[in-house]
Amino acid sequence: MISEKDRKEQLKAIKKENARRYREYNRNKNKKVAESTYLTEMKDDSNLLEIEDLHTCFYTDIGTVRAVDGVTFNIPKGKTVGVVGESGCGKSVTSLSVMRLLQEPQGQISFGSIRFNSKDGKPVDIAKASIKAMEKIRSREISMIFQEPMTTLNPVLTIGKQIDEVLELHTDLKKNERYQKVCDLISMVGISNADRIYKMYPHELSGGMRQRIVIAMSLACDPQLIIADEPTTALDVTIQAQILELMRDLKDKISASIMLITHDLGVVAEMADIVVVMYAGRIIELGTTRDIFKDPRHPYTIGLMKSRPNMIGEDEKLYSIPGNVPNPINLPNHCYFKNRCESCIGKCNNPYPGLVSISDTHKVACWRFIEEEAK
Ligand SMILES: Nc1ncnc2c1ncn2[C@@H]1O[C@H](COP(=O)(O)OP(=O)(O)OP(=O)(O)O)[C@@H](O)[C@H]1O
Ligand code: SF4
Ligand SMILES: [Mg+2]
Repeated sequence: MISEKDRKEQLKAIKKENARRYREYNRNKNKKVAESTYLTEMKDDSNLLEIEDLHTCFYTDIGTVRAVDGVTFNIPKGKTVGVVGESGCGKSVTSLSVMRLLQEPQGQISFGSIRFNSKDGKPVDIAKASIKAMEKIRSREISMIFQEPMTTLNPVLTIGKQIDEVLELHTDLKKNERYQKVCDLISMVGISNADRIYKMYPHELSGGMRQRIVIAMSLACDPQLIIADEPTTALDVTIQAQILELMRDLKDKISASIMLITHDLGVVAEMADIVVVMYAGRIIELGTTRDIFKDPRHPYTIGLMKSRPNMIGEDEKLYSIPGNVPNPINLPNHCYFKNRCESCIGKCNNPYPGLVSISDTHKVACWRFIEEEAK
């Protein structure tokens, strides 16, 4: 236990260090970044995105939040990658890092690479890219669908105007061509009477229709990657199923990849080809949807699977994983799941285990598995 005086000194030192970091960030923010700094090579050209050892931190007045703490995974071309994990595990911060939309200078990518296989054949390391390079990538190559359509849509602009703005900003289409494209996009997401909807305001549409419009906006520039952060959480179950079906159809139509962030394992099972399970800023298991659902290995993933509601034994109480996620400012020097794990062994006091392969597609970060393999 540290004394009040020492704590005050500690907080003063944190503030001073943060102020230094922010000054450095602001100094570098507007500096010209040479293309050679961020042009890179893909490790495997069949991947659209390769995230390698990504660390994203928030420098707060009470300490550094290690929101993403060494995350590595790929999104292959044309595939859907589901990212799951409980609240606060770093799903959204991973996606905001890919879009470089972190709340800077407090939030910063402190280490790692995000290699993106750009349309023009010149892969870019997003972690190092200039603001200008990112402006070209956002919307045109990577677009994002957020949870709540009302926070994405502007309440004082008509639907047509909002989609038109995206096209005006990112394409060379003329006004009448843009009008036609907006109507086509509205029809593409399954809404009829596109020219009538064009003139309507967001509040005149239902939640499901608003989310369809957000999807239309995200498709406006034919992106290669769509990041959907809890796209259906704000919708009721039947509308959720329709929106998921729409996303699946459209993905095949425009041959895009999807990074699908969700709490809902049912949604992942239905939509994803690959599943990434995150816990306290790290990936603890990764595999094909079949690997994760049929053969989960990490005690946390096993707990997640057990906590899914099912129709058999309706009277039974749902399983819940005991305990809480450790404080992201003060992460322990061993497996972050240890205080909640029912399968702990002696080795679990060792430093956090890295991901090890179970098969070509399946990886897990757990001492129990490493010990079993060694026997
Ligand atoms: N602007 C911020 N300042 C400080 N900490 C932040 C900020 N944004 C996120 N964090 C922290 O980063 C960690 C990861 O947050 P993130 O939003 O990625 O979680 P999540 O997995 O998306 O959770 P949820 O399922 O609730 O959306 C959390 O501990 C969160 O408190
Ligand atoms: S490393 Fe140990 S504490 Fe962590 S999940 Fe595996 S068995 Fe549990
Ligand atoms: Mg989130």
